[in-house]
Amino acid sequence: MAHNVRKAVFPVAGLGTRLLPASKAIPKEMATVVDRPVIQYAIEEARSAGIEEFIFVTCRGKASIEDHFDVDVALEAELRSKGKDDALEDVASTELPTGSFTCIRQGRPLGLGHAVWCAKALVGNEPFAVVLPDDVFLSDKPVLQQMTEAYDRVGGNMLAVVEVPREKTNKYGILDIGDDDGTIATVKGMVEKPNPADAPSTLSVVGRYILQPEVMTALDDQEPGKGGEIQLTDAIARAIGHQKVVGFRYEGERFDCGDKAGFVMANLAFGLRNKDVGPSLKKMIAQLSR
Ligand code: G1P
Repeated sequence: MAHNVRKAVFPVAGLGTRLLPASKAIPKEMATVVDRPVIQYAIEEARSAGIEEFIFVTCRGKASIEDHFDVDVALEAELRSKGKDDALEDVASTELPTGSFTCIRQGRPLGLGHAVWCAKALVGNEPFAVVLPDDVFLSDKPVLQQMTEAYDRVGGNMLAVVEVPREKTNKYGILDIGDDDGTIATVKGMVEKPNPADAPSTLSVVGRYILQPEVMTALDDQEPGKGGEIQLTDAIARAIGHQKVVGFRYEGERFDCGDKAGFVMANLAFGLRNKDVGPSLKKMIAQLSR
């Protein structure tokens, strides 16, 4: 029986160069998709999956992320006194319970593996999720919840995966797989951002992981890999052969909100499903496409 996943690590120390100039003075994680910042989608997904402890790996200039999930006593008092109950409810829904979230700094941008390793002491000796907030999913059941449910049956190290066009393998961690039941695929090897010609498949890792604490131990002495950065992919690959590593094909649609096109598409997709914005957005899109 797999151990429950109670903790999630959210690496939020990236520079957001692909979203410039929007991300010059505000963190890319605070860019708004319809009515809430990108990072809030990740937190809501993690809460649905039963995560109780939220660990942000952050850096200089990202304080607004912490503020967003903190209690704002003055704002709440103001909204309450004005009888703005709906707004009050929206604000309350952003609060993480006191004591449930911590922030730790990465310091230097040495790679995703290094960012995750920064949370080692906070994670301790238990399985943990890694949630990359750039990846926002539209799905009936939150993707991390799909994964924790599968993990309860399967255990091991589990990575959310999706097929990508071959010309895009150099943007992702790519898997070499063995047994595959259509949902869970056994991982025989994995490589970070291979050129299309060298990619072992087109099955790519996207930003949700459930990992065993041994991956943190591997990160202790992980050498820099692709791009001179310490790669999470390389540390997970070292578990292959002595620990189970599986790819999990989720149900849902992924938007890369760290990229301008993905960000705009996420706004449209979530906007169309939003009860306040959807109807007029639909009308406007119909007009524009005439
Ligand atoms: C990271 C990982 C990569 C993974 C991707 C998913 O890359 O290193 O293996 O496929 O996230 O979004 P990044 O997008 O941070 O360069």
